[in-house]
Amino acid sequence: MLIRNATLPDGRTGIDVLVDADRIKAVGPALPPPEGVPVIEAGGLLLSPPFVDAHFHMDATLSYGQPRVNQSGTLLEGIALWGELKPQLTQDALVDRALQYCDWAVAKGLLAIRSHVDVCDDRLLAVEALLHVRERVQPYLDLQLVAFPQDGVLRSPTALANLKRALDMGVDVVGGIPHFERTMADGAESVRVLCELAAERGLRVDMHCDESDDPMSRHIETLAYHTQRLGLHERVTGSHLTSMHSMDNYYVSKLLPLMREAQVHAIANPLINITLQGRHDTYPKRRGMTRVPELMAAGITVAFGHDCVMDPWYSLGSADMLEVAQMGLHVAQMTSQAQMRACFDAVTVNAARILGLDGYGIAPGQYADLVLLQARDPIEAIRLRANRLMVVRRGQIVSRTPAATASLSLPGRPETVDWALRR
Ligand code: FE2
Repeated sequence: MLIRNATLPDGRTGIDVLVDADRIKAVGPALPPPEGVPVIEAGGLLLSPPFVDAHFHMDATLSYGQPRVNQSGTLLEGIALWGELKPQLTQDALVDRALQYCDWAVAKGLLAIRSHVDVCDDRLLAVEALLHVRERVQPYLDLQLVAFPQDGVLRSPTALANLKRALDMGVDVVGGIPHFERTMADGAESVRVLCELAAERGLRVDMHCDESDDPMSRHIETLAYHTQRLGLHERVTGSHLTSMHSMDNYYVSKLLPLMREAQVHAIANPLINITLQGRHDTYPKRRGMTRVPELMAAGITVAFGHDCVMDPWYSLGSADMLEVAQMGLHVAQMTSQAQMRACFDAVTVNAARILGLDGYGIAPGQYADLVLLQARDPIEAIRLRANRLMVVRRGQIVSRTPAATASLSLPGRPETVDWALRR
């Protein structure tokens, strides 16, 4: 296909994209259409590489209300609730919920997801289910799995053995949760053990790290240290890092260069951080999201993740990474033009880099994975949470959504409103 007259996220306008089989063949203005190739008019709208969710929990998604809802709204009640649900899980239910979520994702142009999968159930039911789902969805969605010891790799007696079994079964990334171990010392030890395991096996690391309002939760420092020591640069990510919101400014001024030196990536989960953190505060209430603009300014790759959709921790969500970007933008007060564009990057290119996705981006030779949005640029896409008019995976259209318009019947002034056309 030839997609004609698109705007790209980097601001180039009037761009044609020629697709040959599953790859992009050419990108440029006024490309001549080869004979017999269908032409799709983009009409100046934004053509983006697909959304990427760098942090999700697909084993828990769409389980909201099972067996009950989270009354306190806290992380810890969510973990307890998940513990109640785990023994009741069945393989079929896990697969069904995950596949349903992947359908939602495709419709929203979300074509790559890094999902943590809990390895603390000795049956490894969720691991088996999500490995099966990874294979099933591969033609239309890249699912990367993280072996996540939800109950603590040292705190839970069988977690380390289970985590290794999960990696043997084909799970892609080593996970962890140092702030949930019994002591700070155990947390630091868990980081060492898990980073060494990843180094031995040549794998990436993505830990839930310092998901707490405690300013003394400093496992990110240890994570950066072992990343540097073991030469794991570019392969390690700290997820959440919410304690950084509450840390002393002087300490952070030392921490950020250490993260940069180790090339540790960061993932904030704005929808979840804003609802789970600060629950022990009266007023003022802390916002709990990590220091996104400061991390970015320090040269650290930052992505926004969805984390949860309709599960023990969060009752809302719809696989819409523009909703995630919009919340991140607001919570971090990233309102300049450059910062709003950076929020779009946080759910596209930055996340793709953290996952290490192959062939991502709109350039010749890359995969023909594309999303046409009902918006003129990334900022408008965030503002409108724009419709995904067309989603292309490996050169095939996998989803279409009609453009949203409103027909007004105002006295003497009937007209149609199209939100993407500024007047
Ligand atoms: Fe998470």
